[in-house]
Amino acid sequence: MDNVIFNIPLAELRQRGSQKWTHYPAEVLPAWVAEMDCRPPQRVTEVITRAMSLGDTGYSEGDWYAETLQTYAKRRWQWDFDAATQAVGLPSVMHGIVHTLDHFVRPGSGVVINPPVYAAFFSFLKLGQYEIIENDLTPEGRIDLATLADTFAGKSGSKPAAYLLCNPHNPHGTVHTREELAAVAAVADEHDVLVISDEIHGPLVDASATFVPYLDVAGTENGITITSASKAYNLPGMPAAVAVAGVNAAERLQTMSPAVTHAPSYFGILAQQAAWDHGDAWLTQLNLELEQNRQHLAARLAAELPTVSYTPNKSTYLAWVDCTATGVANPFQACLDQGLALTPGRAFSKRAPQFARVNLGTSLEILDLVIDKMVAALG
Ligand SMILES: Cc1ncc(COP(=O)(O)O)c(C=O)c1O
Repeated sequence: MDNVIFNIPLAELRQRGSQKWTHYPAEVLPAWVAEMDCRPPQRVTEVITRAMSLGDTGYSEGDWYAETLQTYAKRRWQWDFDAATQAVGLPSVMHGIVHTLDHFVRPGSGVVINPPVYAAFFSFLKLGQYEIIENDLTPEGRIDLATLADTFAGKSGSKPAAYLLCNPHNPHGTVHTREELAAVAAVADEHDVLVISDEIHGPLVDASATFVPYLDVAGTENGITITSASKAYNLPGMPAAVAVAGVNAAERLQTMSPAVTHAPSYFGILAQQAAWDHGDAWLTQLNLELEQNRQHLAARLAAELPTVSYTPNKSTYLAWVDCTATGVANPFQACLDQGLALTPGRAFSKRAPQFARVNLGTSLEILDLVIDKMVAALG
Protein backbone atom coordinates (compact mmCIF):
# COMPACT_ATOMS: atom_id res chain seq x y z
CA MET A 1 0.00 0.00 0.00
CA ASP A 2 1.29 3.46 -0.89
CA ASN A 3 1.60 5.83 2.02
CA VAL A 4 -0.52 8.84 1.22
CA ILE A 5 -0.78 10.32 4.70
CA PHE A 6 2.60 9.37 6.16
CA ASN A 7 4.83 10.50 3.32
CA ILE A 8 6.85 13.38 4.77
CA PRO A 9 10.63 12.91 4.56
CA LEU A 10 12.66 13.05 7.75
CA ALA A 11 14.59 16.15 6.62
CA GLU A 12 11.33 18.06 6.26
CA LEU A 13 9.99 16.85 9.61
CA ARG A 14 13.17 18.08 11.27
CA GLN A 15 12.19 21.62 10.26
CA ARG A 16 9.13 21.44 12.53
CA GLY A 17 9.16 23.54 15.71
CA SER A 18 6.65 21.44 17.64
CA GLN A 19 7.44 19.58 20.86
CA LYS A 20 8.06 16.21 19.22
CA TRP A 21 10.79 17.65 17.00
CA THR A 22 12.47 20.10 19.37
CA HIS A 23 12.49 18.53 22.82
CA TYR A 24 15.49 16.28 22.15
CA PRO A 25 18.72 17.17 20.31
CA ALA A 26 18.50 17.00 16.51
CA GLU A 27 20.39 13.69 16.29
CA VAL A 28 17.69 11.91 18.34
CA LEU A 29 14.86 10.28 16.39
CA PRO A 30 11.59 11.20 18.17
CA ALA A 31 8.89 8.52 18.56
CA TRP A 32 7.44 9.76 21.81
CA VAL A 33 4.81 12.52 22.32
CA ALA A 34 1.49 12.00 20.50
CA GLU A 35 1.98 14.11 17.41
CA MET A 36 1.80 12.50 13.97
CA ASP A 37 4.20 12.97 11.07
CA CYS A 38 1.56 13.99 8.55
CA ARG A 39 -0.33 16.97 7.18
CA PRO A 40 -3.93 17.47 8.28
CA PRO A 41 -6.81 16.98 5.83
CA GLN A 42 -6.57 19.40 2.89
CA ARG A 43 -9.69 21.33 3.90
CA VAL A 44 -8.12 22.22 7.25
CA THR A 45 -5.17 23.82 5.50
CA GLU A 46 -7.50 25.71 3.16
CA VAL A 47 -9.73 27.03 5.93
CA ILE A 48 -6.82 28.18 8.08
CA THR A 49 -4.97 29.69 5.11
CA ARG A 50 -8.10 31.59 4.09
CA ALA A 51 -8.67 32.90 7.61
CA MET A 52 -5.06 34.09 7.82
CA SER A 53 -5.22 35.79 4.45
CA LEU A 54 -8.36 37.64 5.59
CA GLY A 55 -6.82 38.53 8.91
CA ASP A 56 -9.78 36.60 10.36
CA THR A 57 -8.12 36.04 13.73
CA GLY A 58 -10.84 37.07 16.17
CA TYR A 59 -13.18 35.30 18.61
CA SER A 60 -15.58 32.49 17.79
CA GLU A 61 -19.31 33.10 17.91
CA GLY A 62 -22.23 30.70 18.37
CA ASP A 63 -22.53 26.99 19.02
CA TRP A 64 -21.52 25.62 15.63
CA TYR A 65 -18.48 23.77 16.99
CA ALA A 66 -20.56 21.43 19.19
CA GLU A 67 -23.18 21.21 16.43
CA THR A 68 -20.48 20.01 14.04
CA LEU A 69 -19.53 17.27 16.49
CA GLN A 70 -23.21 16.32 16.76
CA THR A 71 -23.42 15.84 12.97
CA TYR A 72 -20.10 13.97 12.89
CA ALA A 73 -20.99 11.65 15.79
CA LYS A 74 -24.29 10.74 14.18
CA ARG A 75 -22.71 10.06 10.79
CA ARG A 76 -19.70 8.16 12.11
CA TRP A 77 -21.00 6.28 15.14
CA GLN A 78 -24.82 6.69 14.96
CA TRP A 79 -24.50 8.43 18.32
CA ASP A 80 -27.22 10.99 18.72
CA PHE A 81 -27.20 13.89 21.18
CA ASP A 82 -28.53 17.42 21.21
CA ALA A 83 -25.69 19.93 21.08
CA ALA A 84 -27.94 22.81 22.13
CA THR A 85 -28.92 21.26 25.47
CA GLN A 86 -26.20 18.67 26.16
CA ALA A 87 -22.89 20.19 25.00
CA VAL A 88 -20.49 23.02 25.82
CA GLY A 89 -17.17 24.10 24.30
CA LEU A 90 -13.93 23.81 26.29
CA PRO A 91 -10.37 25.08 25.77
CA SER A 92 -8.84 21.60 25.38
CA VAL A 93 -9.56 18.07 26.52
CA MET A 94 -7.22 18.08 29.52
CA HIS A 95 -8.19 21.55 30.75
CA GLY A 96 -11.81 20.59 30.09
CA ILE A 97 -11.52 17.49 32.26
CA VAL A 98 -10.25 19.50 35.23
CA HIS A 99 -12.85 22.27 34.75
CA THR A 100 -15.61 19.66 34.50
CA LEU A 101 -14.44 17.97 37.69
CA ASP A 102 -14.26 21.37 39.40
CA HIS A 103 -17.86 22.00 38.38
CA PHE A 104 -19.29 18.60 39.29
CA VAL A 105 -17.43 17.24 42.33
CA ARG A 106 -16.03 18.59 45.58
CA PRO A 107 -12.48 19.99 45.57
CA GLY A 108 -9.91 17.37 46.51
CA SER A 109 -12.23 14.43 45.70
CA GLY A 110 -10.85 11.07 44.66
CA VAL A 111 -10.74 10.35 40.93
CA VAL A 112 -10.19 6.82 39.62
CA ILE A 113 -7.95 6.19 36.63
CA ASN A 114 -6.74 2.96 34.98
CA PRO A 115 -2.93 2.81 34.77
CA PRO A 116 -1.01 2.36 32.64
CA VAL A 117 -2.71 5.45 31.28
CA TYR A 118 -1.96 8.75 29.52
CA ALA A 119 0.60 10.59 31.65
CA ALA A 120 -1.32 13.89 31.69
CA PHE A 121 -4.15 12.17 33.58
CA PHE A 122 -1.76 12.09 36.54
CA SER A 123 -0.33 15.58 36.11
CA PHE A 124 -3.63 17.40 35.44
CA LEU A 125 -5.43 15.66 38.31
CA LYS A 126 -2.55 16.65 40.57
CA LEU A 127 -2.72 20.22 39.27
CA GLY A 128 -6.43 20.23 40.04
CA GLN A 129 -5.58 18.89 43.53
CA TYR A 130 -7.63 15.75 43.08
CA GLU A 131 -6.70 12.53 44.84
CA ILE A 132 -5.64 9.96 42.26
CA ILE A 133 -7.02 6.48 42.89
CA GLU A 134 -5.38 3.86 40.70
CA ASN A 135 -7.23 0.84 39.38
CA ASP A 136 -4.91 -0.96 36.99
CA LEU A 137 -6.03 -2.41 33.68
CA THR A 138 -5.82 -6.19 33.49
CA PRO A 139 -2.59 -7.59 31.97
CA GLU A 140 -4.55 -7.89 28.71
CA GLY A 141 -5.18 -4.15 28.82
CA ARG A 142 -8.89 -4.30 29.63
CA ILE A 143 -10.83 -2.49 32.37
CA ASP A 144 -10.73 -4.71 35.46
CA LEU A 145 -14.45 -4.69 36.20
CA ALA A 146 -14.15 -6.90 39.27
CA THR A 147 -11.74 -4.62 41.10
CA LEU A 148 -13.31 -1.44 39.71
CA ALA A 149 -16.47 -2.11 41.72
CA ASP A 150 -14.42 -2.42 44.92
CA THR A 151 -12.49 0.73 44.07
CA PHE A 152 -15.73 2.66 43.47
CA ALA A 153 -16.99 1.36 46.81
CA GLY A 154 -13.91 2.81 48.52
CA LYS A 155 -12.49 -0.59 49.49
CA SER A 156 -8.98 0.25 48.26
CA GLY A 157 -8.78 3.73 49.82
CA SER A 158 -10.97 6.83 49.71
CA LYS A 159 -14.42 6.63 48.22
CA PRO A 160 -14.02 8.28 44.78
CA ALA A 161 -16.33 10.91 43.35
CA ALA A 162 -15.36 10.44 39.72
CA TYR A 163 -13.84 8.04 37.21
CA LEU A 164 -11.75 9.25 34.29
CA LEU A 165 -12.15 6.68 31.53
CA CYS A 166 -9.84 6.65 28.52
CA ASN A 167 -12.00 5.43 25.61
CA PRO A 168 -10.19 4.10 23.54
CA HIS A 169 -7.29 3.59 25.89
CA ASN A 170 -3.91 5.34 25.61
CA PRO A 171 -1.35 3.66 25.62
CA HIS A 172 -2.76 0.14 25.01
CA GLY A 173 -5.07 1.04 22.13
CA THR A 174 -7.83 -1.02 23.77
CA VAL A 175 -11.25 -0.38 22.28
CA HIS A 176 -13.74 -0.88 25.11
CA THR A 177 -16.83 -2.89 24.20
CA ARG A 178 -20.44 -1.85 24.66
CA GLU A 179 -20.79 -4.55 27.34
CA GLU A 180 -17.76 -3.27 29.27
CA LEU A 181 -19.02 0.31 29.11
CA ALA A 182 -22.49 -0.73 30.24
CA ALA A 183 -20.92 -2.54 33.19
CA VAL A 184 -18.89 0.60 34.04
CA ALA A 185 -22.04 2.72 33.97
CA ALA A 186 -23.95 0.31 36.20
CA VAL A 187 -21.24 0.11 38.83
CA ALA A 188 -20.66 3.88 38.69
CA ASP A 189 -24.34 4.56 39.30
CA GLU A 190 -24.43 2.04 42.12
CA HIS A 191 -21.62 3.90 43.88
CA ASP A 192 -22.57 7.43 42.81
CA VAL A 193 -19.39 7.97 40.80
CA LEU A 194 -19.36 10.50 37.95
CA VAL A 195 -17.92 8.97 34.75
CA ILE A 196 -15.96 11.30 32.49
CA SER A 197 -15.04 9.54 29.25
CA ASP A 198 -12.10 11.02 27.34
CA GLU A 199 -12.82 10.06 23.71
CA ILE A 200 -10.12 12.01 21.91
CA HIS A 201 -8.83 8.77 20.29
CA GLY A 202 -12.35 7.69 19.20
CA PRO A 203 -11.90 8.17 15.42
CA LEU A 204 -8.51 6.37 15.44
CA VAL A 205 -9.97 2.88 15.26
CA ASP A 206 -9.26 0.26 12.62
CA ALA A 207 -12.15 -0.72 10.34
CA SER A 208 -12.16 -4.22 11.89
CA ALA A 209 -13.15 -2.80 15.30
CA THR A 210 -16.00 -0.61 16.51
CA PHE A 211 -15.57 2.43 18.70
CA VAL A 212 -18.49 2.81 21.12
CA PRO A 213 -19.12 6.34 22.44
CA TYR A 214 -19.80 6.04 26.17
CA LEU A 215 -23.00 8.08 26.03
CA ASP A 216 -24.38 5.84 23.30
CA VAL A 217 -24.54 2.98 25.80
CA ALA A 218 -27.77 2.38 27.71
CA GLY A 219 -27.54 3.50 31.34
CA THR A 220 -24.95 6.27 30.86
CA GLU A 221 -27.33 9.22 31.35
CA ASN A 222 -25.31 10.51 34.31
CA GLY A 223 -21.98 10.51 32.46
CA ILE A 224 -19.97 13.07 30.51
CA THR A 225 -17.87 12.68 27.38
CA ILE A 226 -15.08 15.07 26.49
CA THR A 227 -13.61 14.97 23.02
CA SER A 228 -11.85 16.92 20.31
CA ALA A 229 -10.68 16.48 16.71
CA SER A 230 -7.16 17.39 17.75
CA LYS A 231 -5.73 13.89 18.19
CA ALA A 232 -7.22 12.02 15.24
CA TYR A 233 -6.61 14.84 12.76
CA ASN A 234 -3.26 15.87 14.25
CA LEU A 235 -4.27 19.36 15.39
CA PRO A 236 -2.91 19.61 18.96
CA GLY A 237 -1.53 23.04 18.08
CA MET A 238 -5.10 24.18 17.41
CA PRO A 239 -6.83 23.10 20.61
CA ALA A 240 -10.52 23.14 21.40
CA ALA A 241 -12.78 20.48 22.90
CA VAL A 242 -16.42 19.67 23.52
CA ALA A 243 -18.05 18.22 26.63
CA VAL A 244 -21.27 16.32 26.07
CA ALA A 245 -23.38 15.36 29.08
CA GLY A 246 -25.82 12.50 29.39
CA VAL A 247 -29.37 13.78 29.76
CA ASN A 248 -29.30 13.66 33.57
CA ALA A 249 -26.11 15.76 33.77
CA ALA A 250 -26.91 18.14 30.91
CA GLU A 251 -28.61 20.91 32.87
CA ARG A 252 -25.72 21.13 35.30
CA LEU A 253 -23.14 21.13 32.50
CA GLN A 254 -24.86 24.16 30.97
CA THR A 255 -24.24 26.13 34.18
CA MET A 256 -20.47 25.84 33.84
CA SER A 257 -18.76 29.21 33.96
CA PRO A 258 -18.61 31.09 30.64
CA ALA A 259 -14.98 31.77 31.53
CA VAL A 260 -14.45 28.11 30.62
CA THR A 261 -17.07 27.44 27.97
CA HIS A 262 -16.15 30.53 25.94
CA ALA A 263 -12.51 29.53 25.93
CA PRO A 264 -12.07 27.34 22.80
CA SER A 265 -9.92 29.17 20.29
CA TYR A 266 -11.44 30.34 17.01
CA PHE A 267 -8.62 28.69 15.05
CA GLY A 268 -9.08 25.45 16.96
CA ILE A 269 -12.77 25.52 16.08
CA LEU A 270 -12.17 26.42 12.43
CA ALA A 271 -9.60 23.67 11.95
CA GLN A 272 -11.52 21.01 13.84
CA GLN A 273 -14.80 21.78 12.13
CA ALA A 274 -13.11 21.40 8.73
CA ALA A 275 -11.62 18.07 9.87
CA TRP A 276 -14.92 16.70 11.15
CA ASP A 277 -16.89 17.87 8.13
CA HIS A 278 -14.42 17.11 5.35
CA GLY A 279 -11.88 14.61 6.70
CA ASP A 280 -13.65 11.25 6.23
CA ALA A 281 -11.55 9.97 3.30
CA TRP A 282 -8.36 11.22 4.96
CA LEU A 283 -9.26 9.41 8.19
CA THR A 284 -10.06 6.15 6.40
CA GLN A 285 -6.64 6.22 4.74
CA LEU A 286 -4.94 7.20 8.01
CA ASN A 287 -6.47 4.25 9.83
CA LEU A 288 -5.32 1.90 7.03
CA GLU A 289 -1.75 3.19 7.27
CA LEU A 290 -1.81 2.91 11.07
CA GLU A 291 -2.92 -0.71 10.90
CA GLN A 292 -0.11 -1.36 8.41
CA ASN A 293 2.34 0.21 10.89
CA ARG A 294 1.04 -1.86 13.82
CA GLN A 295 1.43 -5.08 11.83
CA HIS A 296 4.86 -4.02 10.60
CA LEU A 297 6.10 -3.30 14.12
CA ALA A 298 4.69 -6.60 15.40
CA ALA A 299 6.27 -8.61 12.56
CA ARG A 300 9.72 -7.05 12.89
CA LEU A 301 9.74 -7.33 16.70
CA ALA A 302 8.70 -11.00 16.51
CA ALA A 303 11.48 -11.71 14.02
CA GLU A 304 14.30 -9.54 15.36
CA LEU A 305 13.51 -8.79 18.99
CA PRO A 306 11.41 -11.66 20.33
CA THR A 307 12.10 -10.72 23.95
CA VAL A 308 10.00 -7.58 23.42
CA SER A 309 6.33 -8.35 23.66
CA TYR A 310 3.81 -6.30 21.69
CA THR A 311 0.18 -7.11 20.98
CA PRO A 312 -1.20 -4.83 18.28
CA ASN A 313 -4.55 -3.43 19.29
CA LYS A 314 -7.11 -1.75 17.08
CA SER A 315 -6.86 1.88 18.10
CA THR A 316 -4.54 4.87 18.54
CA TYR A 317 -1.18 5.37 16.85
CA LEU A 318 0.64 4.29 20.00
CA ALA A 319 2.23 0.92 20.69
CA TRP A 320 2.69 -0.28 24.27
CA VAL A 321 5.70 -2.60 24.32
CA ASP A 322 6.81 -4.81 27.19
CA CYS A 323 10.60 -5.04 27.40
CA THR A 324 10.75 -6.98 30.69
CA ALA A 325 12.14 -10.16 29.11
CA THR A 326 15.04 -8.24 27.53
CA GLY A 327 16.57 -7.89 30.99
CA VAL A 328 17.33 -4.23 30.21
CA ALA A 329 16.62 -2.31 33.41
CA ASN A 330 15.71 0.97 31.74
CA PRO A 331 14.57 0.40 28.15
CA PHE A 332 13.77 4.09 27.64
CA GLN A 333 17.34 5.10 28.51
CA ALA A 334 18.83 2.25 26.46
CA CYS A 335 16.90 3.48 23.40
CA LEU A 336 17.84 7.09 24.08
CA ASP A 337 21.49 6.03 24.20
CA GLN A 338 20.96 4.70 20.65
CA GLY A 339 19.44 8.03 19.57
CA LEU A 340 15.77 7.05 19.87
CA ALA A 341 13.24 8.85 22.08
CA LEU A 342 10.29 6.70 23.19
CA THR A 343 8.01 7.53 26.12
CA PRO A 344 9.07 5.66 29.28
CA GLY A 345 6.59 3.21 30.76
CA ARG A 346 6.92 4.96 34.10
CA ALA A 347 5.07 7.96 32.69
CA PHE A 348 1.95 5.76 32.46
CA SER A 349 2.32 3.65 35.60
CA LYS A 350 4.86 3.34 38.36
CA ARG A 351 4.46 -0.40 37.90
CA ALA A 352 5.61 -0.32 34.26
CA PRO A 353 9.29 0.75 34.34
CA GLN A 354 10.22 -1.86 31.75
CA PHE A 355 7.58 -0.84 29.26
CA ALA A 356 7.81 1.88 26.65
CA ARG A 357 5.36 3.60 24.31
CA VAL A 358 6.25 3.86 20.64
CA ASN A 359 4.61 6.48 18.42
CA LEU A 360 3.56 4.76 15.17
CA GLY A 361 2.15 7.88 13.51
CA THR A 362 4.90 8.06 10.93
CA SER A 363 6.09 6.68 7.59
CA LEU A 364 7.20 3.06 7.21
CA GLU A 365 10.71 4.36 6.43
CA ILE A 366 10.92 6.23 9.73
CA LEU A 367 9.26 3.38 11.60
CA ASP A 368 12.00 1.10 10.26
CA LEU A 369 14.64 3.47 11.64
CA VAL A 370 12.83 3.40 14.99
CA ILE A 371 12.77 -0.40 15.02
CA ASP A 372 16.45 -0.60 13.97
CA LYS A 373 17.35 1.49 17.00
CA MET A 374 15.13 -0.59 19.29
CA VAL A 375 16.88 -3.75 18.07
CA ALA A 376 20.29 -2.18 18.68
CA ALA A 377 19.29 -1.00 22.17
CA LEU A 378 17.34 -3.98 23.43
CA GLY A 379 18.59 -6.96 21.43
C1 LIG B 1 -6.25 10.38 26.17
C2 LIG B 1 -5.81 11.77 25.84
N1 LIG B 1 -6.53 12.81 26.30
C3 LIG B 1 -6.18 14.09 26.02
C4 LIG B 1 -5.06 14.36 25.27
C5 LIG B 1 -4.67 15.78 25.02
O1 LIG B 1 -5.78 16.56 24.69
P1 LIG B 1 -5.68 18.15 24.72
O2 LIG B 1 -4.43 18.50 23.98
O3 LIG B 1 -6.93 18.62 24.01
O4 LIG B 1 -5.66 18.55 26.14
C6 LIG B 1 -4.28 13.30 24.78
C7 LIG B 1 -3.06 13.56 24.01
O5 LIG B 1 -2.32 12.71 23.63
C8 LIG B 1 -4.66 11.98 25.07
O6 LIG B 1 -3.97 10.92 24.64
